[in-house]
Amino acid sequence: MRSNASWTDAVIDSFEDLTPTVREFRIRPAGSEGVSRHEPGSHLQVQLLVNGKPQLRFYSLVGEPDGQTWRIGVKRLDDADGGRGGSRAMWQLAAGDRLQVSGPHNHFPLDFNAPAYLLVAGGIGITPLVGMAQALAGRCDRSGRPLRMLYSARSEAELAYVDALRHCLGERLHAAAATRINFAAEIAALPPGAQMYVCGPVPMLDAARHAWEASGRPPADLRYETFGNSGRLAPQAFRVRIPRHALDITVPADCSLLDALEQAGVEAVFDCKRGECGLCTLDVLALDGEIDHRDVFLSEHEKQGNTRLCACVSRVVGSVTLDSSYRPDFGSTTCVRSPGHARDDRATSAGGRQTGGQPTTE
Ligand code: FES
Repeated sequence: MRSNASWTDAVIDSFEDLTPTVREFRIRPAGSEGVSRHEPGSHLQVQLLVNGKPQLRFYSLVGEPDGQTWRIGVKRLDDADGGRGGSRAMWQLAAGDRLQVSGPHNHFPLDFNAPAYLLVAGGIGITPLVGMAQALAGRCDRSGRPLRMLYSARSEAELAYVDALRHCLGERLHAAAATRINFAAEIAALPPGAQMYVCGPVPMLDAARHAWEASGRPPADLRYETFGNSGRLAPQAFRVRIPRHALDITVPADCSLLDALEQAGVEAVFDCKRGECGLCTLDVLALDGEIDHRDVFLSEHEKQGNTRLCACVSRVVGSVTLDSSYRPDFGSTTCVRSPGHARDDRATSAGGRQTGGQPTTE
């Protein structure tokens, strides 16, 4: 169940491989006179055919617009990396190919009035932060406000956009391969009122959130977004039962639980599809195996209790029995769709609990 989004015809203008696994696409609205400015942290929704089925994906806009095209960076994820086919579908596009896009939307807004900033990126999470760094660099130079960026990727070769970031940030950029960020120390070094913006895999976000909470700083000064494809366990097929709907299905390794439920005729409430808004959470009635919680919505306590899971991103190793959670705002979380039910096709991401946002989802 999604809200309405307006869709625009667009064309792949060009693309460039920035690293062995990151390809940047320039996307031009078809028949328009260009694109207007977008705020740092904004994203595009893109309609793709994944394994022959229409799917939505969300990609952060990279850097400041050139007036003609939007830029997105897409990391190619294979099945073993938790990929669900979206990035592979994007990588199959060639210059001149057409697609439908919606946006820009922004659920990861940048507050320009903070006294200091720490930007933290992990892997492809760099994409929304490039525009933030560019927008803040000059302002912080002029006002004397501290600004730093910490950027980590699996290898030196995978540090996309590092030249552009070095150009605007200079020595304020700390980019390195395979480093673990000491969030407690980094946060302790920030002046009062500083804001931290984080985009990266769930383990990085969890570490950032724990350290921020432990520091006692205002929750609103930590802003983050994630991509919900980074789990602890390799994705594999798992069995799901929903007694309320007399449903017993197997969720394939390359399909989310939410998508599998939709394909089985169970319409679920959702919004962000990135494990951030919590709308898609389902009650766990029984578990035979392990849940790989990949969201940033549930607390650590809730994840350990395994009483709920976010259907859009979290997976199971083994089998699970689920039920819906009643929500007065929506009447119910799931319902069985009758044959021929028309899809309400929109998709706006609600974003993270601090701010929200979509990056670069696979
Ligand atoms: S739709 Fe699953 S957490 Fe937002």
